[in-house]
Amino acid sequence: MDHKGFTLWLTGMSGAGKSTISDRLMVRFRDAGAKVELLDGDVVRTNLSQGLGFSREDRDTNIRRIGFVADLLSRNGIIVVVAAISPYRDTREEVKSKIANFIEVFVDCPVAVLAERDVKGLYKRALAGEVGNFTGISDPYEPPLQPDVTVRSDRETVEESVELVWGELLRRGWIGAA
Ligand code: ADX
Repeated sequence: MDHKGFTLWLTGMSGAGKSTISDRLMVRFRDAGAKVELLDGDVVRTNLSQGLGFSREDRDTNIRRIGFVADLLSRNGIIVVVAAISPYRDTREEVKSKIANFIEVFVDCPVAVLAERDVKGLYKRALAGEVGNFTGISDPYEPPLQPDVTVRSDRETVEESVELVWGELLRRGWIGAA
């Protein structure tokens, strides 16, 4: 499959499905023979951003680092998938303004559903006041005002969400038909 280098940036709250959708996209890109890399917040925080916490300053540092690497790769023809909460609108905009081919995907899900799912048990702990600065509970999440794609993980299957993203890439001509 022919493709451009671009950055596909998934933003959304913890547990919304960013990593799940990204993993599925990765399989699809690889199966199509594309050159692709994944920058997942959970993983980046164990190496590139090791030691950073969840203050606004630390989150912004994390997002700028991810953006820096995404730019290096995507301007060299690689597809970069980013899965990071990236809660602050103006920091996302800043990163977006520096990357030539950038698509913002909003992985949306009501916080009540996230707290109910609570795969990592973090919402329960945050609601009990045991995790400070927890996005959506005791820390802000600023949803994108004009995302390029919005997926609703409480209403769509992973495959349906992946299809919406794929369709947008085809529409832009950033990937060719497989
Ligand atoms: S970001 O805000 O800097 O973009 P990032 O996506 O890298 O966040 O990391 C989020 C992950 O860290 C969550 O999936 C969750 O597992 C974990 N985490 C731990 N503490 C917090 C917190 N206070 N707020 C949000 N996520 C947290």
